Amino acid sequence: MTSLNKLTIFVFLSICLSSSWANNTHVDFLECLSHKIMNSNLISQVIHTPKNSSYSTIYNSFYDNLRITSNFKPSIIFTPTNESQIQAAIHCSKIHDLQIRIRSGGHDYEGLSYISETPFVVIDLRNLRSVSIDTEKKTAWIQAGATIGEVYYRIAEKSKKLAFVAGVCPTVGVGGHFTGGGYGMMSRKFGTAADNIIDAKLIDANGRIRDRKSMGEDLFWAIRGGGGTSFGLIISWKVKLLDIPEKVTVFKVPRTLKQNVTQLVYKWQHIADKVDDNLLLRLFLRSSKSPFKGGQRIVHALFKTMFVGGVNELLHEMQNRFPELGLVKEDCIEMSWIESILFFANFPRGTALDVLLNWNTTNQGYYFKGKSDYVQQPISINGLEGIWKLFNQVDENSAELQFSPYGGKLSNISESETPFPHRAGNIFMIHYSVTWGEIKNSQKNIAWIRKLYEYMGKYVSKSPRAAYFNYRDLDLGVNNINGNTSYEQARIWGVKYFKNNFDRLVKVKTKFDPTNFFRNEQSIPPLSPEV
Ligand SMILES: Cc1cc2nc3c(=O)[nH]c(=O)nc-3n(C[C@H](O)[C@H](O)[C@H](O)COP(=O)(O)OP(=O)(O)OC[C@H]3O[C@@H](n4cnc5c(N)ncnc54)[C@H](O)[C@@H]3O)c2cc1C
Ligand SMILES: *[C@@H]1O[C@H](CO)[C@@H](O)[C@H](O)[C@H]1NC(C)=O
Ligand SMILES: *[C@@H]1O[C@H](CO)[C@@H](O)[C@H](O)[C@H]1NC(C)=O
Ligand SMILES: *[C@@H]1O[C@H](CO)[C@@H](O)[C@H](O)[C@H]1NC(C)=O
Ligand SMILES: *[C@@H]1O[C@H](CO)[C@@H](O)[C@H](O)[C@H]1NC(C)=O
Ligand SMILES: *[C@@H]1O[C@H](CO)[C@@H](O)[C@H](O)[C@H]1NC(C)=O
Ligand SMILES: *[C@@H]1O[C@H](CO)[C@@H](O)[C@H](O)[C@H]1NC(C)=O
Ligand SMILES: *[C@@H]1O[C@H](CO)[C@@H](O)[C@H](O)[C@H]1NC(C)=O
Repeated sequence: MTSLNKLTIFVFLSICLSSSWANNTHVDFLECLSHKIMNSNLISQVIHTPKNSSYSTIYNSFYDNLRITSNFKPSIIFTPTNESQIQAAIHCSKIHDLQIRIRSGGHDYEGLSYISETPFVVIDLRNLRSVSIDTEKKTAWIQAGATIGEVYYRIAEKSKKLAFVAGVCPTVGVGGHFTGGGYGMMSRKFGTAADNIIDAKLIDANGRIRDRKSMGEDLFWAIRGGGGTSFGLIISWKVKLLDIPEKVTVFKVPRTLKQNVTQLVYKWQHIADKVDDNLLLRLFLRSSKSPFKGGQRIVHALFKTMFVGGVNELLHEMQNRFPELGLVKEDCIEMSWIESILFFANFPRGTALDVLLNWNTTNQGYYFKGKSDYVQQPISINGLEGIWKLFNQVDENSAELQFSPYGGKLSNISESETPFPHRAGNIFMIHYSVTWGEIKNSQKNIAWIRKLYEYMGKYVSKSPRAAYFNYRDLDLGVNNINGNTSYEQARIWGVKYFKNNFDRLVKVKTKFDPTNFFRNEQSIPPLSPEV
């Protein structure tokens, strides 16, 4: 070939490419993907463009936080039915430079699984939700598109003595939840969901499927707490199932200011992380108008508790450690572990278990903002009273604080064992939330929760002020939207979620995804190649 011919071909190619990249990226992506899948029946089932009526049904059939909006909706929603189709989508996304977002349960607090500020495709894993359980070996393979409710249901279907530890809301997806930790009502006994993962299958930035053995221990470490999206698309997890007794004991006990809530909360902080590992005493705080006192606010505390054992043992432990609560036998209910899942998800007693399989019921839709903190020294009485005062500055019943105790198994694992670093030294985690119904109140409520967060600064962990990755909060810092983020910029939010594990996460990222294919506003950046 003459050099002139070479040049002609080069110019021709680059014109073709640049014009298509600039204008028709999603059309080209679509052609690429359709070409790979071939079967036209299947194409119409798995590719959803804004022209298809399936598009909006699928886009909206998840937990709905109205606060989340963006300039772009996905050009395409892709609902693959098998792994090779995902490999095809990753391939096409790479060659046509169209960003992907991965959605499993869609519960991301900032919507990063389904919005973006640049054109993008959503890979939605709703068709990959099988849960296969081996009761002999006490393990399960769980596909990333399953919800934790389905996982719980499938385990209980097979055994009365096995369980798994993960969050409380049954519609949370395992794809996102397990990659960030996963805290639930048995975490003081068993740790996080991520602590109980023993193998995983993911698709890496080169489109290769890897399991624990072929990905190596560094990458396997990173995805158990460091977030999925930075490292690959998780297809499935293998977890260790946990031995539980046939009966557990639960209670929900309310107390109000008149009943010494401030003293109770103060005392709670001294015992919550130290009680028997089988006991998890979670505390919820809200405020509402008193029906009696002409508009004055009263603070309510709700003690929601799980005890992995019988009622007598529980009463004994409570009498020893927290007699001030005044718990009596009548407050307690013995039930199976799977019934306790329904109990904490606030279903009425007697609800059929298969309600746990309803993953796509949409809620009415409301505005929501959440944040988190870790507490290492009990908050003083004055400090607590300051919180009650702030409650008076927001609409009644719209704000809630959850105090989730640590200690037990959570604190018995070293900070570097997984990227989830919130171990010994933490008494409890605070989850702050505020919800509202109308857009006109957004500014007011967001300002309120930020003010509360600022107020709490002196009572919580410092240097870094730690936060829980699964309660994603973009107030903590964001990457550049174009993915060109410096290490220093990402470190600001990174050390809050991961403490010293951030640097190891950056190393793993640099090794497995140096071009930053898997990215979002809070993904781990690769280090730029040395020049
Ligand atoms: C109502 C509600 C209740 C909650 N309760 C709890 C609780 O009790 N305990 C607790 O610890 N947390 C809880 N959370 C937080 C929850 O753990 C996180 O929001 C979690 O990330 C949700 O996972 P998902 O798959 O549903 O979300 P998604 O929005 O689908 O995903 C979350 C993030 O993970 C990425 N991701 C999803 N799937 C994959 C995959 N297969 N591979 C790679 N990356 C992926 C997404 O791109 C996104 O960045 C709750 C959240 C909500 C909204
Ligand atoms: C196509 O891309 C070119 C170059 O970026 C731009 O000038 C042109 O306006 C685009 N056309 C359309 C229809 O977007
Ligand atoms: C996955 O789906 C494709 C259709 O896109 C099909 O050709 C292929 O055989 C399937 N692979 C497996 C392992 O089922
Ligand atoms: C979806 O829309 C495309 C055009 O964008 C069309 O070719 C296809 O037939 C539609 N599929 C369904 C199932 O309606
Ligand atoms: C509240 O606490 C005070 C002081 O600790 C105590 O004297 C009082 O009996 C308590 N009241 C209730 C209702 O428990
Ligand atoms: C939920 O999924 C089922 C089965 O796929 C479907 O029949 C139903 O219409 C869906 N409901 C919603 C609200 O999307
Ligand atoms: C914590 O670790 C020690 C030593 O490995 C062990 O004896 C103890 O049982 C562990 N406690 C929990 C709650 O796992
Ligand atoms: C990426 O960052 C470098 C260094 O900050 C800057 O010089 C470059 O212009 C950036 N590129 C893009 C595409 O923003």
